[in-house]
Amino acid sequence: MTVYLVGAGPGDPDLLTLRAARLLGEADVVVHDRLVGPQVLDMIAPWAERIDVGKDPDGIRTTQDRINELLVDRGRRHETVVRLKGGDPFVFGRGGEEAVALGAAGVAVQVVPGITSAIAGPATAGVPVTHRGLSSAFTVVTAHQDPNGEQDLDWDALARIGSTLVILMGARRAASVRHRLLAAGMAADTPVTIVVSATTPQQRTFRLRLDALGATTVPNPAVIVVGAVAANDVLAAMPDPTPTGPATAAATATATAGPDRSPDTDNRRDHRAAVAALEGVAPWP
Ligand SMILES: C[S@@+](CC[C@H](N)C(=O)[O-])C[C@H]1O[C@@H](n2cnc3c(N)ncnc32)[C@H](O)[C@@H]1O
Repeated sequence: MTVYLVGAGPGDPDLLTLRAARLLGEADVVVHDRLVGPQVLDMIAPWAERIDVGKDPDGIRTTQDRINELLVDRGRRHETVVRLKGGDPFVFGRGGEEAVALGAAGVAVQVVPGITSAIAGPATAGVPVTHRGLSSAFTVVTAHQDPNGEQDLDWDALARIGSTLVILMGARRAASVRHRLLAAGMAADTPVTIVVSATTPQQRTFRLRLDALGATTVPNPAVIVVGAVAANDVLAAMPDPTPTGPATAAATATATAGPDRSPDTDNRRDHRAAVAALEGVAPWP
């Protein structure tokens, strides 16, 4: 009787770990998030109970307390329970809180790390988060403010580090991120790359200057990379993009939206409008 906190990776099912794939086929119950792609969900055994606790920014939320209760309940009643989360469960995934809640209830818990969008997103757009001579560190932050008053980030310090800044959950707060970084002294022409729906057929990549960030709506989900590395596409010179999925750099730079698997038509329409608007923003440099 174990609850496995499993990272589903950024979207492309090929980026799932072997252990995650095996557990999906064995699980009695799978409790999953919104950002887990349909092809990954297809790997769940047909007999398994599936519980969608997706937390859409606009939709009905399953509270974290309720999710914890569900996990404890199913963890006590079933042999194998998978709690499936986008990316890595311990990167802005509240996996740590769930592990603590399960431990406190006496339910065995294990973590299966996943590939985080914070690194895979930029990578598939040809942006290495570190690159000799350009950046020897990267910092991953969330632009989302905790409504319960968690400490705000020290944006002045982030701007001063001078290395790569990777921002998750920044789509809605892109303009505020721009303000904070410019006010902290970051140069207006600092390169920015936005990778939307990384590693999925809908992946799009946008390159712009910091002073254009947030000028139009940024579609969700997006990874925003700020810093010298963001000016690069190290895969651009590849004569024949590697067939590792939909997300090769050459494909992403010019991709037209593929079949959209979003379950929500309104979200789909908003997403397309935001992509079209972002295409109109002045590119970097
Ligand atoms: C709640 S956080 C979860 C992060 C996740 N645990 C990870 O390691 O990637 C959700 C944010 O991750 C980012 N994200 C997740 N998947 C993404 C994808 N396929 N493309 C772009 N951004 C993604 C977005 O910034 C999104 O708002």
